[in-house]
Amino acid sequence: GSASETTLVCLLAAKEETTRRVKRSHPDWEENFIKTKLVAYTSDQSNSSVEKGGMLASIPMKLLATDEKCVLRGDTLLKAIKADLEKGLIPCCVVATLGTTGTCAFDNLQELGPICNEYNIWLHVDAAYAGAAFICPEYRYLMSGVEYCDSFNMNAHKWLLVNFDCSALWYVREK
Ligand SMILES: Cc1ncc(COP(=O)(O)O)c(C=O)c1O
Repeated sequence: GSASETTLVCLLAAKEETTRRVKRSHPDWEENFIKTKLVAYTSDQSNSSVEKGGMLASIPMKLLATDEKCVLRGDTLLKAIKADLEKGLIPCCVVATLGTTGTCAFDNLQELGPICNEYNIWLHVDAAYAGAAFICPEYRYLMSGVEYCDSFNMNAHKWLLVNFDCSALWYVREK
């Protein structure tokens, strides 16, 4: 399928997984009640499909501000998570982009990854546009921090010259 579909699938998986985890620690909470508290994050530079994925999954998708190089940084994410936890919301998914559609910016996975892992937040990496470059060893430094992610997508139907649609999605979440 497409990168848009992979983002949606991962949002739905994150929604289900987070709901089950929260239910285990609060058995008296209804699943539907937990689902109304979920929130997800991405940058204000991410592809429009990410915001649409949030709409389809019924998870508010917060578009976080990027730095002067259009990069989503860890301190911005951490601030948003803490503010939402204080409001009683439940952070459930972060969609980071490696190679944004507008400027080919790379979100800082080395900063975002440990925060997601610490707060039990699913980290999906959207490398739809630039991900094919990682087959070249000289570009792999651009995916540094990928070891923290739970799912990763790249589009073979872009630079790998494969016919549309051919998005490759890896899941690394083990629960
Ligand atoms: C970074 C990024 N994410 C997602 C998409 C959407 O890809 P698809 O058309 O496979 O859904 C694009 C398309 O250009 C993109 O550049």
